[in-house]
Amino acid sequence: MGKQRILSGVQPTGNLHLGNYLGAISNWVEAQSQYDNFFCVVDLHAITVPHNPSTLKENTYKTAALYLACGLDLEHCKIFVQSHICAHSELTWLLNCVTPLNWLERMIQFKEKAVKQGENVSVGLLDYPVLMAADILLYDADKVPVGEDQKQHIELTRDIAVRINDQFGSKGESVLKIPEPLIRKEGARVMSLNDGTRKMSKSDPSELSRINLLDSPEEINKKIKRCKTDPIKGLSFDEPERPECNNLLTLYMLLSGKQKQEVAAQCQDMGWGQFKPLLTEATIEALKPIQQKYQEVIDEKGYLESVLRKGRQQAEAVANATLSRVKTALGYSVPL
Ligand code: TYM
Repeated sequence: MGKQRILSGVQPTGNLHLGNYLGAISNWVEAQSQYDNFFCVVDLHAITVPHNPSTLKENTYKTAALYLACGLDLEHCKIFVQSHICAHSELTWLLNCVTPLNWLERMIQFKEKAVKQGENVSVGLLDYPVLMAADILLYDADKVPVGEDQKQHIELTRDIAVRINDQFGSKGESVLKIPEPLIRKEGARVMSLNDGTRKMSKSDPSELSRINLLDSPEEINKKIKRCKTDPIKGLSFDEPERPECNNLLTLYMLLSGKQKQEVAAQCQDMGWGQFKPLLTEATIEALKPIQQKYQEVIDEKGYLESVLRKGRQQAEAVANATLSRVKTALGYSVPL
């Protein structure tokens, strides 16, 4: 039996941060040799909120370069840009026509983002999860490695696939494969440095709320120095009323590569003044090789373009085959 397939992506909006890395990309890297992997830069999703056309292309390349810098290996992975493959938009339309409107109105992320935007909410923002379903279903993905916040979107993807199969599958044959989320326990929800009850997010107006993968050692030092803590001495993972404590210890554990028990023992009698330099050091050390590799890749634009061209060719063949299968099931004629 062949390897199971993985599909995932990150939006090229703003800077990628520790949440994107620990919740998603580092898990892709860790498991890559076990799977047949497709990773896209989801630039069509990036325009579901108002965007700046003069930075979209650059951010798309930066995100792809970060995929490589974080350790994705082309021996195991196809890396491509979502908008380079028309099948993503076309399958979205077909899925739109079988997806009940109230399924989309229920989506937590839509509700949160819509509140922030007031009058300016686009149809695209509401439709965001259907485009994400198309991304996943086009590649017959078995698993979708993401952070906790994307779980509801994957459940919706499954519901849409089941509906297509029920309505258009024939003789017990399904049209679309039903994917599973792959969400790691630790790091699936990295919290803001300003508030341990809110998710670390690219759209938070405060730069101090997140550590970006390309932050300099000085910036990392400043952000950790200023991050929110509490007045209690002795640090532990298991005190729900201390969300910042749990978040910062988890960051330290994941970035230093230490086991949970080891960190718990090391930090149980520490105060914040002792802990913060440790976290700063671990963060700088974990990001250093990523930043070095990023610089090499981004300086070699021709290389990056060749990676994305090859990725597009490989991904397009798979995506077009699925699109044809769905169109045939829906009753479309094959183009002459
Ligand atoms: P995006 O760009 O918002 O997030 C990319 C990935 O990072 C994870 N993530 C986090 N994980 C832990 N803690 C955080 N604070 C945190 N913030 C973000 C997200 O869960 C995600 O895995 N809708 C997707 C993009 C997408 C996609 C897809 C993903 C579009 N099509 C198909 C998988 C499959 C998103 O949230 O992007």
